Amino acid sequence: MKTIDDLAVAGRRVMVRADLNVPLDGDRITDDGRIRATLPTLTALLDRGARVVVCTHLGRPGGKQDLRYSLAPVAARLGELLDREVEFPGDIVGPAAHAAIAAMPRGGLVMLENLRFNESETSTDDMSRGYFADRLAAPVDLYVADGFGAMHRKHASVYDVPLRLQSAAGYLVQAEVAALGRLTADIRRPYVVVLGGAKVADKLGVIGSLITAADEILIGGAMAFPFLAAQGHKVGSSMLETSQVDVAAGYLEQAARAGTEIILPSDVVVAAERAAGAPHQVVAADAIPADQMGLDIGPESAALFADTILRAGTVFWNGPMGVYELAPDADGTRAVAQALTGSRAFTVVGGGDTGAAVRVLGFPDSAFGHVSTGGGASLEFIQGKALPGLAALAW
Ligand code: 3PG
Repeated sequence: MKTIDDLAVAGRRVMVRADLNVPLDGDRITDDGRIRATLPTLTALLDRGARVVVCTHLGRPGGKQDLRYSLAPVAARLGELLDREVEFPGDIVGPAAHAAIAAMPRGGLVMLENLRFNESETSTDDMSRGYFADRLAAPVDLYVADGFGAMHRKHASVYDVPLRLQSAAGYLVQAEVAALGRLTADIRRPYVVVLGGAKVADKLGVIGSLITAADEILIGGAMAFPFLAAQGHKVGSSMLETSQVDVAAGYLEQAARAGTEIILPSDVVVAAERAAGAPHQVVAADAIPADQMGLDIGPESAALFADTILRAGTVFWNGPMGVYELAPDADGTRAVAQALTGSRAFTVVGGGDTGAAVRVLGFPDSAFGHVSTGGGASLEFIQGKALPGLAALAW
């Protein structure tokens, strides 16, 4: 794969497609891990005299300018971390953006406004995306892909722009491909996959191929409820889409045939509402009261999950085990993180949410084999799917 080391960047205008889709509380960034992860690429380009144009999406504003998703706080944080001025014209492909890019000195940096304020960015219509990509590419000379977390999206800035410019991968993408590549070939076994989190609809589909690849799959977080329901258990008022129960039942059968163990929580931390102050209790996973919702895996499950992880040769973890942002519901996620750090396995933490969770709970990235910035992207990559952003670079 061609990297930024292969590009002559001095004096050139270089567009860096990053994934700075960071968690926000109002306009406060609660975890800046994704911004920090792209600093090596940006610093290298700036030090080599490039004129850098950073672009990214933030959230899902739906193709409209919605200032709750403005990148202004991200531009400010990037400036602090780089200790340089970050020009933020508040525009994407309009005159203000083009003027800022034209005026930038060597070693200067401009950050464009949220790409998803333009509906063409995510359009499934090739013409619409292509027209937007032409306008993004017009004021720059080169393209660097450093937003691994978005590379599974066939979006204008990810797929169409690199088809129009000389392109290369940034250091973040290079490191992701090297580390995640170890989960696609010569896997050290047992291979344990830990899945959780709240984006059940997005992730349920990957379990089929993971059943083929993994030896054991541990399921916590909201992802556990369709499986518990498929086993005939009532899940109270826990997060559950009934359409997912049949899918989960199919996976349980598929796993049984393949000899892959799917391990579900045996106990669950429940409360009547998703609030730190609500009375919490631990109940058996097959006895969740009707008016209570599961907010974390229980201590017995946490111990079982930790034990399985400690016996593994390779562990891939995507998705917190509970609502880790609430102190009473963080123990399951903490126990899994602790087990990964104590394991001799090659450990990969995948996903913006999971990376943020381990950092918020006090675990440094260095405690794991690799902390991926990509959630959906890392899941697709380890299943062997072609990521549009990587395909465009190889073109
Ligand atoms: C992520 O957070 O997984 C990436 O930034 C991609 O975001 P998306 O799921 O909204 O495309």
